[in-house]
Amino acid sequence: MSNPVSKTAWYCTGVRMQDARSADPLIGDVWAERFLDEEGRRVFERFADLREPNGANIVRHWLIDQWLNARLATDPAHRIVLVGAGFDSRALRLTGGHWIEVDEAAVIERKEAIAPSHGSPNRLVRIPIDFARESLADKLAPHATDAPVTVVMEGVTYYLEAAAIAANARTFADLFPRHELICDLQSNAFVERWGRRIIERIAALGAHWRFHPEDPVAAIEALGYERRACLSIALRAAELKRLRVPAVLIRYLLPSLRDGYRVCAFARHPEFNRAVPGTLPPSVSA
Ligand SMILES: C[S@@+](CC[C@H](N)C(=O)[O-])C[C@H]1O[C@@H](n2cnc3c(N)ncnc32)[C@H](O)[C@@H]1O
Repeated sequence: MSNPVSKTAWYCTGVRMQDARSADPLIGDVWAERFLDEEGRRVFERFADLREPNGANIVRHWLIDQWLNARLATDPAHRIVLVGAGFDSRALRLTGGHWIEVDEAAVIERKEAIAPSHGSPNRLVRIPIDFARESLADKLAPHATDAPVTVVMEGVTYYLEAAAIAANARTFADLFPRHELICDLQSNAFVERWGRRIIERIAALGAHWRFHPEDPVAAIEALGYERRACLSIALRAAELKRLRVPAVLIRYLLPSLRDGYRVCAFARHPEFNRAVPGTLPPSVSA
């Protein structure tokens, strides 16, 4: 993989492989092991011992699964755009959806070789892009629609400059006027106090943390979104015994851990609220 951020896709896939092989899988993503190639396995070996970050990573993916399942239950043809899809196998695992995956060519080619989009149980389009040289707007333009859309950027925002996130938000607003954005966000306090170990390991791959403002939720809202829900990844991971820290400690005594790493759903107010009545799981933190 020439883009160092793309190598992090191997890490997330390795976490899902580890989960699927475990005695009590949360997701059981059987595709993860198939997607990993030799390079992928070598990359993941560097992270395999990171129990807490890996636990948080799998819970993040699981939380987003829940939200997407809620959407698909009310709208089985719902359009879901995965930007920086990596080896996400939701189009193959979940029931329903019209899926659009965007990522670097090396990622897309690997996915097509293992699980061709034409064989997907759900409608699936994979779009290769060179993020450094090509325009996301141009790539997504053929898929512009006035229908409700969910855009997912999972494990992506903190690798981007704020200006790139703003440009993406403009693109999504132009092409998908009735969309919601689901993404995970890290605060500066979280990065400083809890993120160092994983960030150092990721840095060894050549990928660096860029977007971690004091209040990342406010930063996204400033781009024209309204927050609909934010879930604490650490708190849910502790409740699910994927972290060793007791949930009660996180809930009451460790606000930077509780609120510093969350998965959030934002609507472009007020379109999405009216368009899709699907319920999101209740927010566990404000
Ligand atoms: C940590 S991985 C997450 C992959 C996947 N979403 C998941 O959760 O398994 C980050 C992904 O972002 C992609 N990426 C790299 N540069 C990007 C950019 N400028 N914009 C969006 N995604 C990018 C990488 O190729 C990689 O697949």
